[in-house]
Amino acid sequence: MRVKDKVILITGAGRGIGRETALMLAREGAKVVVCDRDQASVDAVAAEIVAQGGQALALACDVTKRDQLDATSARILETFGRIDVLINNAGITMDAQLAKMTEAQFDTVLDVNLKGVFNATQAVLPAMLAQGKGKIINASSVVGLYGNFGQTNYAATKAGVIAMTKTWARELGKKGITANAVAPGFILTDMTAAMPEKVLSMMQDKTPVGRLGQPADVAKAYLFLASDESDFINGHCLSVDGGMVG
Ligand code: NAI
Repeated sequence: MRVKDKVILITGAGRGIGRETALMLAREGAKVVVCDRDQASVDAVAAEIVAQGGQALALACDVTKRDQLDATSARILETFGRIDVLINNAGITMDAQLAKMTEAQFDTVLDVNLKGVFNATQAVLPAMLAQGKGKIINASSVVGLYGNFGQTNYAATKAGVIAMTKTWARELGKKGITANAVAPGFILTDMTAAMPEKVLSMMQDKTPVGRLGQPADVAKAYLFLASDESDFINGHCLSVDGGMVG
């Protein structure tokens, strides 16, 4: 078991990549804290984890609400006594070309994808500093590296996530805490289901391995970065995109 007894908080774990990661990490022995906006979705994923013989704590929490994250952190410490890994997976899209993007679309995506990562990381940081050990893993995207048509807001957040990751790697490395990011390509989830078939097929053509990604492809990268196998990796952004380039 590659993450046995590690306490791992995953935001946005109610579906998609976050859900798949929660299930995989639990199979590898982690005590998984399943966090998402609504209680029903986190309860369902936690029940799946328990059904497969794992341990889970289901906590509803909106990453844009700092007080909810502080309460989540406190509940985890009460229940498990530590927080070993934070996976900042929660994220949204609200696409529009620059000329048509509203200020609300811009602000809302920044609030979840960028400030949400800041909020969650600050909320767990005191525990990780007290432990003298911890891992922060952030969801970036291929879009944060290369940009994407119609995604001014989303691309800005995903590039910003890489910049925060590299900053935290420098600030926290000496304190035993590493920070890394993953940059998935196009992964088949509800998020990409909203994209036109034509765009998805174009993205597949641009991917040398000849297929779009599955949530498990990204979950395996999170598993590696959450495990002790990655202890000397810090400030890295791992592409999980089948070799796609912008
Ligand atoms: P998804 O839309 O299937 O799942 C995202 C989850 O985040 C949902 O369960 C949603 O309820 C939750 N969430 C949204 N706002 C939240 C908030 N304020 N507080 C707490 N939870 C919130 O998305 P998917 O595809 O699983 O993506 C997961 C992460 O991976 C996102 O950060 C996304 O940007 C990133 N990503 C996804 C790619 C893809 O192709 N699907 C590619 C690159 C990155």
